[in-house]
Amino acid sequence: MQELKYWRKLPIKQAPNYPNTQELIEVESELRGYPPLVFAKEVELLKQKIIKAQNQEAFVLQGGDCAESFDRLSGARIRDFYKLFLQMSVVLGYSSGMEIVKIGRIAGQFAKPRSDDFEERDGVRLPSFRGDMINSIGFSVEEREHNPRRMLRAYHQSSSTLNLLRAFCKGGMADLHLIQRYNLDFVTHNPLGQKYQSLAQEISQALHFVESCGVDVGNASSFSEFFTSHEALVLNYEEALCREDSLGGGIYDCSSHFLWIGERTTQSQAHIDFLKKIKNPKGIKVGSNMSVETLSKLLDELNPKNLAGEIVCIVRMGEENISRVLPSLLKKLKDRKILWINDPMHGNTIKTSGVKTRHFQSILSEIQQFFSICESEGVYAGGLHLEMTEEDVSECIGGSVTQEGLGKNYLTQCDPRLNATQSLELAFLVGEMLKR
Ligand code: PEP
Ligand code: CO
Repeated sequence: MQELKYWRKLPIKQAPNYPNTQELIEVESELRGYPPLVFAKEVELLKQKIIKAQNQEAFVLQGGDCAESFDRLSGARIRDFYKLFLQMSVVLGYSSGMEIVKIGRIAGQFAKPRSDDFEERDGVRLPSFRGDMINSIGFSVEEREHNPRRMLRAYHQSSSTLNLLRAFCKGGMADLHLIQRYNLDFVTHNPLGQKYQSLAQEISQALHFVESCGVDVGNASSFSEFFTSHEALVLNYEEALCREDSLGGGIYDCSSHFLWIGERTTQSQAHIDFLKKIKNPKGIKVGSNMSVETLSKLLDELNPKNLAGEIVCIVRMGEENISRVLPSLLKKLKDRKILWINDPMHGNTIKTSGVKTRHFQSILSEIQQFFSICESEGVYAGGLHLEMTEEDVSECIGGSVTQEGLGKNYLTQCDPRLNATQSLELAFLVGEMLKR
């Protein structure tokens, strides 16, 4: 486990700046004593699913909050988030005929990279908010100080979130007989809710027919499987949750099944070194400035044996850049074992009247281009990575949310998310693209 700490000697980007080192050491040691949040065998199962997707037999749906929040923890939210995820998976899975691999941005997504270290308001300059794991969104000196004790709260919130998600997975919430009940209240009466309802009815009828023939498919276990993910940003936290697998050997970061490095840390030597020591599958955010040389070098480091199931490249180039940059990356990296998925959110963020937003049309346009570029290059378009919420927020423009209405229910702590209706609509549109 000693070599796991080597990142501490390397140049690092986006690291918290804790004023009290002794407190940090105490927190790290407390975390090291805590139970792991996930189990190595589950991580290996996810790898098998990624391999299945690489073989074009599954499609990945990854999504959730940009940043989870300490204040907004609630059982009802987790339940509705899971329902929305299942609903989108029904839509995508029914049109594609493929397994949908469900990976939430949840139970650990508490730390944010920031382009600016400071935020200024009315002449007052304070450190930027970096996610609830590091500091608080409130604008005062105390709230913006980096506090290592927040890692403990992030752990406990992840643990209780995961506990409920596991209960839903294993306790029958994902029973296929219940798919007609996944609609969230505010979606039920809009046209998309009704569209979903008729699809669910059609599937239920098919289920009854199959069961009348003597096959029990209601509790299909792979439909209920759910994995967690977050950006591996705060390495003190990630390192403290690493455990050696007593059964199969090797070190797993047991904070989550899947971890990714973001646009701002793909060049951070410390982050790369840490990720290459763990056996979890890894995501690499691929922005429009990523060169083939840089990405090849990263792949050499993170997956030197070019094994399947290890690497997911999450393309986030924006609707204006993707067709210029992606084709040559795909061409030149054909011999690499990569699952290519698209994050149509982060390259399409704009600011209007001081508020961050994204247009549904830009999101859709990037996805359409992603699918068509992949098709022309003979590469499988293997999934989507979304910032989305089960709540009826007004953060992205499209559908019933207008530019003027953005302020109505703008709740995100960081980037704008698709609301439940927009997410469902996107699932229907992507479902059409996946029809074979
Ligand atoms: C994110 O996923 O919230 C994020 C910050 O993405 P990126 O690193 O791609 O900008
Ligand atoms: Co974000």
